[in-house]
This record gives sequence, structure tokens and C-alpha cells, in this order.
Amino acid sequence: MKRVITYGTYDLLHYGHIKLLKRARELGDYLIVCLSTDEFNKLKNKKSYFSYDERKAMLEAIRYVDLVIPELTWEQKPDDVKKYNVDVFVMGDDWTGEFDDLLSGLCEVVYLPRTPDISTTQIKTDMKSK
Ligand code: CTP
Repeated sequence: MKRVITYGTYDLLHYGHIKLLKRARELGDYLIVCLSTDEFNKLKNKKSYFSYDERKAMLEAIRYVDLVIPELTWEQKPDDVKKYNVDVFVMGDDWTGEFDDLLSGLCEVVYLPRTPDISTTQIKTDMKSK
């Protein structure tokens, strides 16, 4: 079985997220989403609208997602890849090149193009001006 992993906050779930998850799952047979916890989001200077448990429940309801695990640190990626026997590591192309050295020799690293004109930040900004 080919296992794929991806990382993110996935707050205010939107079609850019769904398209990323669909394409990630199509790269293998089993998709793991490593979801930023509320504590880790603080380190990233992000504050999500939905809690970790709420974001996790929404991701688990998506047919492309097989498993959701917590993202607690920046450094855990190589350990996750080994622990879950991951074959493909996927991120949006806003991270292009960032993880090649870290994961070299451990798994394939793929950067998928982001869907244009949508993001959680954009939704928050648009809602404020309505
Ligand atoms: N993503 C995407 N296309 C978008 C928005 C997000 O492919 N338009 C991808 C990101 O590249 C990432 C995953 O979805 O792999 C989760 O992204 P996340 O940062 O949680 O969502 P954003 O909408 O980018 O949130 P923010 O505005 O807070 O950065």
C-alpha cells in the first residue's frame, strides 16, 4: 500500500483544501493528514476559528482522508514518515524546496500547485468587509 502524508491547519475548510486532499490521495492508497494543534498554531502565529477537535472531525468526514494525526512541532516530519511508513510527502507549492533536504532518502517529496484565489486568510478578510 502506498502511503501519503500532508500537513496543515485546515481551518474554515474550503474548496482549495478539498482539492489538495483529493490530489494528495490520488498519489497513493492511504492519506494521512498531520493537523496542526491549537498549541502549534500559536507557534506559527496562527489562531484558528475551529478547535483542533472540530477541524479533525471535519477532516475525518472527507472521503480522501484515512487518518488524522496531530502536528505538534516543526521537527516531527522525518519521525512521522518513518513511524507511518510514508512513501510520499505532499505540500502545497508555497513550500516548494523547503523539505527536500530534510526528507531526502526517506520518501518522495511532492509540491502540488495551490488552488488560486482562495485561502482561510482570504475568507476571514472577505467576511470582515461584508
Ligand atoms: N491549499 C491549496 N490551495 C489553497 C489553499 C490551501 O492547495 N488555495 C493547501 C495548502 O498548500 C496546504 C493545505 O491546503 O497544503 C492546508 O493549507 P492551510 O495553510 O491550512 O490553508 P490556507 O487556506 O492556506 O490557510 P492560511 O490562509 O491560514 O494560510
